[in-house]
Amino acid sequence: MSVERPCVLVGVTGCIAAYKACEIVRGLQKAGVRVKVVMTEHACEFVGPVTFRALTHEKVAVGLFDDPADPIHHISLAQECDVFLIAPCTANVMAKVACGIADDLLSTTALATTATLAIAPAANVHMYEAAATQENMEVLRRRGVRFIEGDAGYLACGDTGRGRLADPAVVVRETLGLLVERVGIDALRAACERWGEVPFTAVVEQVETARVAGATAAAKGRTDAFSDMSKHPTPDMPPGMSRFRRLRTPR
Ligand SMILES: Cc1cc2nc3c(=O)[nH]c(=O)nc-3n(C[C@H](O)[C@H](O)[C@H](O)COP(=O)(O)O)c2cc1C
Repeated sequence: MSVERPCVLVGVTGCIAAYKACEIVRGLQKAGVRVKVVMTEHACEFVGPVTFRALTHEKVAVGLFDDPADPIHHISLAQECDVFLIAPCTANVMAKVACGIADDLLSTTALATTATLAIAPAANVHMYEAAATQENMEVLRRRGVRFIEGDAGYLACGDTGRGRLADPAVVVRETLGLLVERVGIDALRAACERWGEVPFTAVVEQVETARVAGATAAAKGRTDAFSDMSKHPTPDMPPGMSRFRRLRTPR
């Protein structure tokens, strides 16, 4: 786990929605979070590593054997992050993670990490609803992977249905909620005050919104959960924060 600045590793995969990862990266940065990016080769067909490099001011990793300065790159990436968010995540990468396949940098890092693993899927409705994909998602849920799913709607391929990437703002706030669960509200507050671009109170409001959404989802039988943050009250924490409760033991 990072000592000073909470770190989210964003994994970008080969989807039309890959460009939305730029917005997710920026949203997390505004809260003061350190963001690193790892991409699949196919993701680079949709958006270039140079974009993420410019946004994050960090090296952007694609190939397993790319970085001569860091010969075991997947392990350092896996260990540096508090949350590994794969967004958008293809049906292919969900299948690989569910099976423990580690044949590129992103999937190898996913297997190697002990950080909170979060997945925001994006796929054509038929790929998404395919029995294989749904079973893979179920396996991952059972193992404690946290899903951030979008609503049904119009898809870029022209179909309508499930499989849309969740709104980037929703992905950001759910991820911040997971980060708080992992490192505590004090660490997020310190990062926000030192590196953030928006006030801490605004970040807390986002996290609170995610908690409410998580509680609603949990009531519907989904597995989203947030920690009891009432043990970490802060002076500018809105009243709602004291209502944080652990709904389910995370991974
Ligand atoms: C234009 C285009 C759009 C695609 N969009 C998606 C998508 O949204 N979700 C998905 O699961 N696969 C999508 N695919 C298929 C993936 O790119 C393909 O399965 C690829 O092997 C995924 O590689 P990766 O998972 O290593 O990134 C798309 C392919 C093309 C050509």
